[in-house]
Amino acid sequence: MMRIGFIGVGRRMTGHIRRIKESPECEIVAFCDVAAEAADARVAQFGGTAFTDVRRMLESARPDAVLMGLPPFAHGAAEKACIEAGVPFWLEKPVHLDIEDARQIAAGVADKGLVTSVGYQERYLDIVERLEQEVVRRQPGIVFGYWMGGSPGGWWVRRERSGGQAVEQTTHVFDLARHLFGPARRVSAAGITGLIPPDGVRNIEDASAATVEFASGVVAVITSACYLQVAQGVPAGLDVFCRDGNLHYQRRRSVTLTTAEGSTTWTNQNNSEADMLKDFLAAAAAKDPGRVRCPYAQGVEAVELSLAVNRALDTKKPVDLPL
Ligand SMILES: NC(=O)c1ccc[n+]([C@@H]2O[C@H](COP(=O)([O-])OP(=O)(O)OC[C@H]3O[C@@H](n4cnc5c(N)ncnc54)[C@H](O)[C@@H]3O)[C@@H](O)[C@H]2O)c1
Repeated sequence: MMRIGFIGVGRRMTGHIRRIKESPECEIVAFCDVAAEAADARVAQFGGTAFTDVRRMLESARPDAVLMGLPPFAHGAAEKACIEAGVPFWLEKPVHLDIEDARQIAAGVADKGLVTSVGYQERYLDIVERLEQEVVRRQPGIVFGYWMGGSPGGWWVRRERSGGQAVEQTTHVFDLARHLFGPARRVSAAGITGLIPPDGVRNIEDASAATVEFASGVVAVITSACYLQVAQGVPAGLDVFCRDGNLHYQRRRSVTLTTAEGSTTWTNQNNSEADMLKDFLAAAAAKDPGRVRCPYAQGVEAVELSLAVNRALDTKKPVDLPL
């Protein structure tokens, strides 16, 4: 039986807590949240012990693995405490807003040979496996990526808390592009504000477009928009234009390949979030950091790309990577 602790138990974690509760191989031992009422409510529903302090939770509940649902601005201390205690951790994207601190954490993870996993669930979609195969066998040139939707509230609309949309949300698209086309060498970006009326709180772009030049030669234009009032179906995905065919990835739903011979569509069949967690738990049990599809170090590479977009937006100049 694997003892599981949770750190940061807000909206996002409900599905993951339920999955762990239903797993016959896991026992929930702790919920930790700076908001005591959030941890208490989870304990009342799912059992375990409530904590507001991560170190105390690690010492007292002794979890074998931890799942973190922290907001972007709250990363750093919990990961370091897990590294010190030698406890494998899964965490939500984006891994951090501070690239230097994220690199220190990545070094600590590597030193301990710790199993980690980042919640880029796209990596576990069966259609993304298909996309990878098609990209490898074709010659990609220009890529369009996009996440065009509406705006949540709360910490999401403050740049210093969420990182803005390119960091918090379109990070899934940047990660997928980074995963398919390799490291980026330069990013340029332009943003739009003023589409959503000012409210004295919001300080993020309403939309942005980033041009990413990959070392492989591929060029991607990746757009983010959160001003849309009609955002049903949230158009999000990646269009990859290859020499001999076009690939259309519709977020978490399907991949369509169109060649001179015609079109084929693959619809996603697996539950990527469940598979991602299972993989992390199996890797933690086997103490095999290489088993997961997005270990912490790759989460750092993904957020580096998104943070480069912010730097390009702020400086209005192209930004060379690594940051
Ligand atoms: N992969 C996805 O598809 C997906 C979807 C939604 C959200 N997310 C990510 O999940 C993360 C959490 O989002 P959410 O909507 O659940 O946020 P939320 O605000 O609902 O919950 C965050 C929780 O963390 C707690 N918290 C804050 N600082 C803490 C700290 N230092 N220690 C312990 N607890 C702390 C808060 O009190 C809150 O209960 C975000 O990074 C978001 O980007 C990912």
